Amino acid sequence: MTQFRTLAAVALGCGLIGFAGFAAWAKHGESQRFAAIPPALLGESVAQIERGRYVAAMADCAACHTVPGKPEYAGGYSLQTPFGSIQASNITQDPETGIGSWSLEQFDKAVRHGIGRHGYLYPAMPYPAYAKMSDADITDLWAYIKTVEPVHQTVVENQLPFPYNQRFLLAGWNLLFFKDQPFTPQAGVSAQVNRGDYLVNGPGHCAACHTGKNLLGGDLAGALHGGTLQGWHAPDLTPNPHVGLGKWASDDLVRYLKTGSNHQAAASGPMLEAVENSTQHLTDADLYAIAAYLQQLPASAEQPGPAIAADDPQMVTGKRVVESQCEACHRRDGHGVRNMIPALRDNAQVNARDAASLINIVLRGAEGPVTAGNPTGAGMPRFDWKMADEDIAAALTYIRNSWGNSAARVSAADVSRARTALGAEAWLMR
Ligand code: HEC
Ligand code: HEC
Ligand code: HEC
Repeated sequence: MTQFRTLAAVALGCGLIGFAGFAAWAKHGESQRFAAIPPALLGESVAQIERGRYVAAMADCAACHTVPGKPEYAGGYSLQTPFGSIQASNITQDPETGIGSWSLEQFDKAVRHGIGRHGYLYPAMPYPAYAKMSDADITDLWAYIKTVEPVHQTVVENQLPFPYNQRFLLAGWNLLFFKDQPFTPQAGVSAQVNRGDYLVNGPGHCAACHTGKNLLGGDLAGALHGGTLQGWHAPDLTPNPHVGLGKWASDDLVRYLKTGSNHQAAASGPMLEAVENSTQHLTDADLYAIAAYLQQLPASAEQPGPAIAADDPQMVTGKRVVESQCEACHRRDGHGVRNMIPALRDNAQVNARDAASLINIVLRGAEGPVTAGNPTGAGMPRFDWKMADEDIAAALTYIRNSWGNSAARVSAADVSRARTALGAEAWLMR
């Protein structure tokens, strides 16, 4: 409750700043704020529509705007934020309930500048990253979106409680956290690295999940140093050898983004969706560009501490649990089975500061990624019904502190909280 009050106070504070921002914006006038897209870019040839389809995959518009099993881009997918739930809009060509009557300028204003039909958009729509998209990509994307089948479906986007349902507060948010600036290539790096920079920080919006967020949902310092969302931890993507991608070769990263797994890791949860909807469709050249960009980032500073001793009581229990429940698949010494069952040793996710993804996967299991490059994904069974909080905590503490891994202990209370938050089943023996 106190946390809520603090949040409300901060939000209202931002609202005031917001008013100032809004006034300043209104004074400047919109036309000066956004440079117009040269009309010549919109040719709407078949080739342009195909390029637009590729941009939509790159930017993963379907992740939020398509509810699985429902018509494409008809909206209604609910995004849970710490402030309440927001639904993604209908962006089909229906003139009434979708964006069928929009112009390219209106589309651009929403996608790159965060202003939609009802005013400021919530940053659950990743316009802070899309702001970096090129004019050509936005225009191609629009040519493609115009070919999307119209679906008549009204979506009530804003389902937030007061005061968060007040869109003018977002002017304050934008002032604090939104840099409405186009992508600028860095000098002194290769064209490949710049392409990767564009993909990661523009359409790919990797930071939406892989960068930590403050109480208001703005980015913390330490871009791509890892973030936690909806019961998952999205790991550090810098070359940190312990918690990041320091031990991954470019081929490993490309394989992961193309097929959803490699010998270090397998994608689950939101990353599984990102691989299935987005990264598996990228060209090898673009995937290697992403790898080249991530590999030249400065490594985050996080250093491994000493591992918890093997004779610690939780480690002793953990060893017993892992030997009986996990080693049949993950193999002795945490080696895994190449490209099928992830190794638990030398695994950045296993060493991560925040064990959210590990707890999540052990409680609810994980379906292996199914991609064109990996048509029969192996699955991880769920253990919520089968194991007590204490045993799950011990198993995870053990795998986080064996075979060269080292990371903070996981407590039974952590598992219990996640069990409730994730709606996992209760332990049957209780
Ligand atoms: C991470 C989720 C997410 C992704 C990815 C995403 N959107 Fe959105 N989008 C939303 C949400 C949520 C809203 C509604 C926000 C609001 O009402 O403030 C929205 C709103 C919009 C709107 C405004 C609609 C209106 O009626 O005002 C447009 C246009 C749009 N998105 C297009 C796109 C396109 C194009 C892409 C891909 C380049 C995309 N979105 C990717 C979540 C997402
Ligand atoms: C919607 C949120 C989301 C987006 C967007 C996203 N990721 Fe992830 N990513 C995650 C989560 C969550 C995990 C952890 C999944 C797991 O443990 O199975 C992850 C895992 C990864 C991993 C594996 C890391 C490891 O050590 O195991 C890589 C590599 C990765 N993401 C790269 C990317 C790149 C590159 C992008 C942008 C093109 C991206 N991700 C966009 C959420 C996201
Ligand atoms: C039937 C085989 C099987 C058993 C038994 C099993 N796992 Fe897994 N595990 C898998 C597979 C397959 C994956 C990859 C799933 C995915 O993420 O798509 C996985 C993934 C994981 C991950 C995520 C690794 C990553 O890089 O994201 C962790 C952590 C994990 N298992 C821990 C355990 C623990 C702890 C146990 C015992 C309590 C266990 N597993 C038992 C097959 C198994």
